[in-house]
Amino acid sequence: MAKLHLGVLGSGAGSNMQSIVDAIAAGTLDAEIKLVLSDVPDAKILDRGRKHGIPSQHLDCAPWKTKLEGPAEDRCIELLKGAGVDTVVLAGFMRIVKAGLLAAFPMRVLNIHPALLPAFPGVHSWTQALDYGCKVAGVTVHFVDAGTDSGPIIVQKAVPVLENDTPETLHARIQVQEHIAFPEALNVIARGNYKIDGRKVRIF
Ligand code: GAR
Repeated sequence: MAKLHLGVLGSGAGSNMQSIVDAIAAGTLDAEIKLVLSDVPDAKILDRGRKHGIPSQHLDCAPWKTKLEGPAEDRCIELLKGAGVDTVVLAGFMRIVKAGLLAAFPMRVLNIHPALLPAFPGVHSWTQALDYGCKVAGVTVHFVDAGTDSGPIIVQKAVPVLENDTPETLHARIQVQEHIAFPEALNVIARGNYKIDGRKVRIF
């Protein structure tokens, strides 16, 4: 059992980061968020971080629009290492992370994805599930590897797709489960009671 020193990367509202903050405050997750970084200067996740007294800053990722690479990646690693981060959490970070970050934190980068992977990687996954006619949708927390939304799965949770669902109502139902799944996955990492065996995360 080792306390996690988390670095959170996000682009949006930060409700997943909030679920981690709440789990720490409730004493159900042995972790501390050391730093919040966002590629979006006015993202709500930065306000949330500051409200909780967590160092929170914008990370300029230009000129790239969809990935974290080059000098921005170097700066990101420098900031995370400088803050004493040992585990990186992608909490709604809408960029592809590349080999540099993954090498700096080997098998210590976690992502939350709003679908039951390997179905519907990429963006607006809940809309993809709805359009496909799925009867269930859900959320996956996984280790990040070199692919897109393809790393070993730590936790998954399913939700029903209802007849009258809109993208918004389905996403809201998925988000309720996200806020349970992320602290649960981080607890596995904190307890250290797992082994990565190829694609499989064996939890014991
Ligand atoms: C969440 O639904 C998360 O699963 C999704 O972005 C949202 C962020 O919400 N992530 C992705 O789509 C990553 N491909 P939040 O900012 O309120 O945590």
